[in-house]
Amino acid sequence: MNVAPKFGPAFTLESADAAGLDQLRHQAEGCTRCELYKNATQLVFGEGSQRAAIMLVGEQPGDKEDIAGRPFVGPAGRLLDTCLEEAGLDRSRCYVTNAVKHFKFEPRGKRRLHSKPNAGEIQRCAWWLGAEIKLVRPNLVVALGATALYSLLGSKVKLTPERGHILTPGNHPPVLVTIHPSFLLRIRDEEDVARQRANFIADLHRAVQYQGN
Ligand code: URA
Repeated sequence: MNVAPKFGPAFTLESADAAGLDQLRHQAEGCTRCELYKNATQLVFGEGSQRAAIMLVGEQPGDKEDIAGRPFVGPAGRLLDTCLEEAGLDRSRCYVTNAVKHFKFEPRGKRRLHSKPNAGEIQRCAWWLGAEIKLVRPNLVVALGATALYSLLGSKVKLTPERGHILTPGNHPPVLVTIHPSFLLRIRDEEDVARQRANFIADLHRAVQYQGN
């Protein structure tokens, strides 16, 4: 399936290219493109090498990530790490980021419950994701779940029919479509978890050939 990227920049980032990801992160720290910066502790930008061959894109930072200032360090991140390892991928060689860079939540007493980013928030934040892709130029982008997929390719590409496929969008690197690891954390039936986990690892395994040496 040939699809076009939707909300990212026009990719004329020559100056950012020279200054690199640190400069981009610094700019993003002052981002007010949507309201989410107001309640989050801090921006959670992507991390990893600018020369990474594989970019992993999640939804948004969770409670733990918001506090740590790093992507995928909470329960979903730990599960992602084990699945990556079982799939033969080395997280330390990937660039790990999110479609939305600030934690969106509903306060419930002392707890902060994850709240899904809406289409406008995803679209505004897609500028940063597009810039990260432009700078890193990965061989493959892995869309972890529907929010990442929407940010990368818009609303016409649906997760269920494309899951496990590698799509080749216009001027983007190829996109591997898979689930978000937190989906596995929500399944109650043990057999179902085992099956879905195995499918997730099989999806991730498709990225190995893009990892390089
Ligand atoms: N879920 C995400 O999508 N990203 C994170 O960084 C953590 C949890």
